[in-house]
Amino acid sequence: MPTSLPRTTKALVLEKLTRARPPLLYDAAVREQSIPTLEPGQVLVKIGAVSFNRRDFWMRRGLYPRIVDGSTFGSDGAGTVIAAADPADPLLAQRVFLTPMRGLESDPTGPESEFGILGGGSVPPIGTFAEYVVVPRIEVIPTPTHLTDEQIAAWPLGGLTAWRAIALAQISRGDIVLITGIGGGVAILALQICVAMGALVYVTSGNQQKIDKAVALGAKGGLLYTQGGQSQSEAPKKRDTVASGGAADSWATTSREHGELKDKLRCSARF
Ligand SMILES: NC(=O)c1ccc[n+]([C@@H]2O[C@H](COP(=O)([O-])OP(=O)(O)OC[C@H]3O[C@@H](n4cnc5c(N)ncnc54)[C@H](OP(=O)(O)O)[C@@H]3O)[C@@H](O)[C@H]2O)c1
Repeated sequence: MPTSLPRTTKALVLEKLTRARPPLLYDAAVREQSIPTLEPGQVLVKIGAVSFNRRDFWMRRGLYPRIVDGSTFGSDGAGTVIAAADPADPLLAQRVFLTPMRGLESDPTGPESEFGILGGGSVPPIGTFAEYVVVPRIEVIPTPTHLTDEQIAAWPLGGLTAWRAIALAQISRGDIVLITGIGGGVAILALQICVAMGALVYVTSGNQQKIDKAVALGAKGGLLYTQGGQSQSEAPKKRDTVASGGAADSWATTSREHGELKDKLRCSARF
C-alpha cells in the first residue's frame, strides 16, 4: 500500500471539437483531474491495464448515444485496490477488474435498473482510461490469479455482452452455433465461451485468416461472407443458434446460399 495517496489522476477525456460544419467529432485529450474523496463503500483502483473497445472509436466520431463532453474514455480496466473507505476492507491490495455495465443485477434479460456502460457518459460517471478510478467496491471483481491485468482487461464488456447473448439463447453442450463476423471483439469471446461449453461452433468472416484463427480456437469451420464461399469444412446441415455480431443480414445471406438456415433455427441472439 502506498503511504500517501494520489490526489490527482491523468485521464483521457472526450472533448467536443468546435467545427463550423458537421460532422460532430470528439478529440481525445489527456487531462489532470482531482481524485474524489472516498465515500462509504468505495475503493480506489490503480489502473494497471485497459483495453480499447469499438465504442471508443464510435465516440470519437460522435456516433455513440449519450456521449458526455468532458467524460473519461474506457469501458474495460483492471488494476489493484490501493485504498478503501473501510480501512479493513479485504479488497485492499487485491488485483481486480471493473464491472463494465450498470443496471444488470442478476437477470440475463435485464437491465433491472438504469442501464449504463463505463466510459464516455454519465451513467456511471467514470471511465477506465485513467491512472486511478474511484468505484463502489461491489463494482470490482477479484482478478483470477492466472490472468494478468492485460489479459483480464480485454474481457469485461465484450465478454459480458457475449455471455448475455449465449445465456439468452440458452446454448448448451452439443448445440450447433453459427457466429457471424468472427473477427469482431464480441464474436471472438462468444466463440471461446461456446467452445468451452461444448457447443459446435461455425463462423463467418470477411477474411480467411480470421476463420483460420477461429478454427485454431476450436471452431468447426467457417464461411467467407464476402464470397458466399465455404471453407475449412462442410457447413452444418442443422444449426440451433445464430449469434450475430456483424451486419444485420449477413447470416441470412449465408443461409440463403447454404441452406434454409432461418427455418432451422431454434433462436438467434444479437450482441
Ligand atoms: N464491443 C462490445 O463490448 C459491445 C457491447 C455491446 C454491444 N456490442 C455490439 O456488438 C456488435 C459487435 O461489436 P464488436 O465490438 O465486436 O464489433 P467489431 O469488433 O467492430 O466487429 C464487428 C465485426 O462484424 C463483422 N462484419 C462487418 N461488416 C460485416 C458484413 N457486412 N457482413 C458480415 N459481417 C460483418 C466483421 O467481422 P470480420 O472481421 O470477421 O469480417 C467485424 O470484425 C456491434 O453491433 C456492437 O454494437 C458490442
